[in-house]
Amino acid sequence: MIANPRSFALKTTSYLQALLKFFQAALHLMTQRYRSASLRFKIAFFVVILMTSTSFALSIVTVQIMNNYILNEIIKRGESVGKSIAASAGYNLLSKDLLGLDNLVFKAKSSNSDMLYVAIVDLNMKTVVHSAAEMIGEAKSVAQGRLFREAADGTTVKELANSSGSIFEILCPIVFMKKPLGSVVIGMNKSILLEAQREVGSMILIVFGIIVVLGMFASSLLASFLIKPIKELSAGVEELKCGTAKTPLRIYSHDELGKLTRNFNEMSATIADQRGKLTKYARDLEDAYVSMVKVVAAAIDARDSYTHGHSARVAQLSLLLGEQMDLPKEDLLDLEVACLFHDVGKIKTPDSILLKRGKLTEAEYAEMMQHVEYGASILSWAPSLFKYIPSTRHHHEWHNGKGYPDGLVGDKIPLFAAIISIADAFDAMTSNRPYRKALFKEEALRRIDRMSGTQFRPELVAIFLELMEKDHVQDAPLSVVGFAR
Ligand SMILES: [Fe+2]
Repeated sequence: MIANPRSFALKTTSYLQALLKFFQAALHLMTQRYRSASLRFKIAFFVVILMTSTSFALSIVTVQIMNNYILNEIIKRGESVGKSIAASAGYNLLSKDLLGLDNLVFKAKSSNSDMLYVAIVDLNMKTVVHSAAEMIGEAKSVAQGRLFREAADGTTVKELANSSGSIFEILCPIVFMKKPLGSVVIGMNKSILLEAQREVGSMILIVFGIIVVLGMFASSLLASFLIKPIKELSAGVEELKCGTAKTPLRIYSHDELGKLTRNFNEMSATIADQRGKLTKYARDLEDAYVSMVKVVAAAIDARDSYTHGHSARVAQLSLLLGEQMDLPKEDLLDLEVACLFHDVGKIKTPDSILLKRGKLTEAEYAEMMQHVEYGASILSWAPSLFKYIPSTRHHHEWHNGKGYPDGLVGDKIPLFAAIISIADAFDAMTSNRPYRKALFKEEALRRIDRMSGTQFRPELVAIFLELMEKDHVQDAPLSVVGFAR
């Protein structure tokens, strides 16, 4: 009993809404999965679906055709038997030869297992003989059912429904000497048809399964075959993007895909050519840059005969330190250029101060100190030189914060500036100056050791002293790319 129709309707609606949401979510998930699936899967999936649905449709059509054929055969056989009985029964019926009629009915019934009953009725539809003896003498009611067929000789076929399924009742008129005497009535069940349907259904199921398995296998092969050139094209694009493309892709066909591959090969060749030219231009630009840096460094050093070659020597010592510290090659390249640029600001320092033989006044020394800021300012003119500003600006900072221009302390001083600071000091001490002679190497190293932790970064001093004591300076790389030559 439904307690409340309104609440039942509400519950049903909410269930339906929940079901709808579930299907929407499932459809969304399947769509997402399908979008992210590989092309090979999509082709294989499409082909399997196509083959399965085609096979299914063909199976249905085949079963339908087979049903119609078998049905026709059953009915034709029933009609044939009925007409055969009717042809013989006319005389027996007229002569009231019941034994003969019974014999006809018995033979027909016993030789056709799918006949439910065989009877002969007179013109009043009274049963004269019947395969079921208890029916003899009974009035045969007019069969109610769908008229399946009606022949010109009066033979009718009706499809009747009873409790055990549908049967066909065939009624053949008995005519003797052009006089109608009665009818032969045959009831045929569809057992043969059902049996045949079961057998064919099993066979179709097996064939259907084989088709699906073969279809999956074939679609996978087909997908692989179709996808192969696309995969190679995709890999080619990836290689082109990474700049590792070497050989042109194989052209498998002369269709649209083959044309696309051919165009890709031509485009790849053009890009490789352009890339080669660009590489050459970049190399030329780099060479020009190297030359420019060398000219600048030489110009700085050439102003003072006492400091001639100073920047190159600082670069050599700094590279030795950098290599000992296992700096990567890119850093060593930057360190070398930074060394050549470290005193670039001295271009703006007046000759009267830069070349002065005597001791500098306080004002002159202050002007000399300005060279680090001049250098930073000069390097700020070109974005590609920005990275050399920190080492140029801070190579006179002291580890204890008493250097210039910013008084940076310890690790706040950029690494390159701290390295250049030691190399710069060592080269200055071991070079002749107008106001003093060059110190011996041992004395210069002693002074550097003494200033470890005050002017210089201790861990760098330790490495430097170890290298110098082993006299590694002779093995120092002259240059990473040729700047310091
Ligand atoms: Fe300097």
